[in-house]
Amino acid sequence: MANLELYPQIISNRVPKHVAIIMDGNGRWAKKQGYLRMFGHKQGVNSVRTALEFASELGIDFITLYAFSTENWNRPKTEVNALMQLLVDTVEKEIPSLMKNGIRLKTLGNISQLPSKCIKQLNHTVEITKDNQGTTLVLALSYSGRWDLIEATKNIVNQVRNNNLNVENITEETITRALNTSEFPNPDLLIRTSGEMRISNFLLWEIAYSEIHFTDVLWPDFKKEDFLKAILDYQSRERRFGKTTEQLT
Ligand code: FPP
Repeated sequence: MANLELYPQIISNRVPKHVAIIMDGNGRWAKKQGYLRMFGHKQGVNSVRTALEFASELGIDFITLYAFSTENWNRPKTEVNALMQLLVDTVEKEIPSLMKNGIRLKTLGNISQLPSKCIKQLNHTVEITKDNQGTTLVLALSYSGRWDLIEATKNIVNQVRNNNLNVENITEETITRALNTSEFPNPDLLIRTSGEMRISNFLLWEIAYSEIHFTDVLWPDFKKEDFLKAILDYQSRERRFGKTTEQLT
């Protein structure tokens, strides 16, 4: 349930429905303090919790977190394994909090590539949170925008092959519906932490008209105030979707 009274700066009818976040900078954060990279990822979990709580407080319908990209499989095996274990442990540990806050978990990506203990824990948590009515947390895992576009292309080719679709009738809507993100609205706001200004193969189709907020803050340092800044930045933008200012009023 949205509780905006504490944030008079926020324009209540312009809260983004969907916020997507590229959580970057865990490794650099750890290195800066002389720790191993994995310590940064562990601290990053606290920021995930904070961001989720704030999204829930603001009544944001969807929050999509880029937790593990297709390309992240190329990291050292020890880091990949430790990240997978962190994922299992975190998802299990957070179940009571997800239930208490009415948060529904969904996954996005090539989940079948994950270790079976991850798949089991994720499926279990998706199942027991499925009737929750608050914010939907979408964890993008073994995901990349290009992967999903390839999947969608295969799906569309099959529809054509099976005579369920005429090539001339392929529209934006056809592609949107064929993507694994079809059940989610497009993100209104995309946040990337750590000062990098890249999209890194995230939600390529879906962010066509998203507002983008870059911050230098490293993910483990990303606090409620930083999220609030991003929301206020978003609310200061004029979303024209290709039209002129005059057409909007
Ligand atoms: C990017 O930082 C972060 C990741 C690839 C992993 C994100 C994982 C977490 C925040 C923790 C687990 C999450 C959940 C949802 C349980 P980086 O390693 O690329 O940092 P660097 O660019 O400084 O090296």
